[in-house]
Amino acid sequence: MSCMSRHYETQDYYFELAKQKGFNARSVFKLQEIQEKYRIIKKNHHVLDVGCFPGSFLQILSTWVGKDGQVIGFDIKKTKDLGLDNVKTFVADVNDAEEVQKQIKGLTSKNFNIIISDIAPNTTGTADYDQYQSILLNEKVLKLAQSNLCLGGDMILKIFQGSDFNEFLAKLKKSFKKIKIFKPKASRARSSEIYLLCYNFKRKP
Ligand SMILES: C[S@@+](CC[C@H](N)C(=O)[O-])C[C@H]1O[C@@H](n2cnc3c(N)ncnc32)[C@H](O)[C@@H]1O
Repeated sequence: MSCMSRHYETQDYYFELAKQKGFNARSVFKLQEIQEKYRIIKKNHHVLDVGCFPGSFLQILSTWVGKDGQVIGFDIKKTKDLGLDNVKTFVADVNDAEEVQKQIKGLTSKNFNIIISDIAPNTTGTADYDQYQSILLNEKVLKLAQSNLCLGGDMILKIFQGSDFNEFLAKLKKSFKKIKIFKPKASRARSSEIYLLCYNFKRKP
């Protein structure tokens, strides 16, 4: 079997598995791998999911945090009602910090234990450009964390790794005590995407 056909089989495998299990997207398996290895999300946690559409992270987070936890998600695209009591969503652009903050405050008065972002720009195929757009979005998520994450809380970010990556990593290190880099198996091998596990939020830089 050629590498190419093996690659497509892997992609089909996660796509079909998501369909079979009733998940709205294959992305869920990336978060599941992170959770199986690192156990970051706990029962009763209050979680923010940035870039949540079509909602597969929300579906699995809902079960992990349980009935006394809560998950709030937002995206520029409207997420269909998932029928889950502990999940709420709204529509907003992460670049509009004022609107995002207003919507969050309308839904909760508590800071989050965990912020997860699977946000991704529309890709153009020009790697440098796409990676830079990914960094810009993640800069906004970091700002959001600085106002909405509990001290000691954790953050999981998806990022396209490129030439601006080290500079952004240095910024994250000012706000979090420990950062791990993780590439899930369910992530496309040719994609530059990785996940950053940012532990123990300490302070605004
Ligand atoms: C890979 S998808 C997320 C999949 C999701 N984690 C799931 O499990 O279903 C990335 C999302 O980022 C969203 N996004 C991109 N730019 C955004 C922005 N400026 N503000 C909010 N969401 C954005 C896209 O609309 C898209 O739904």
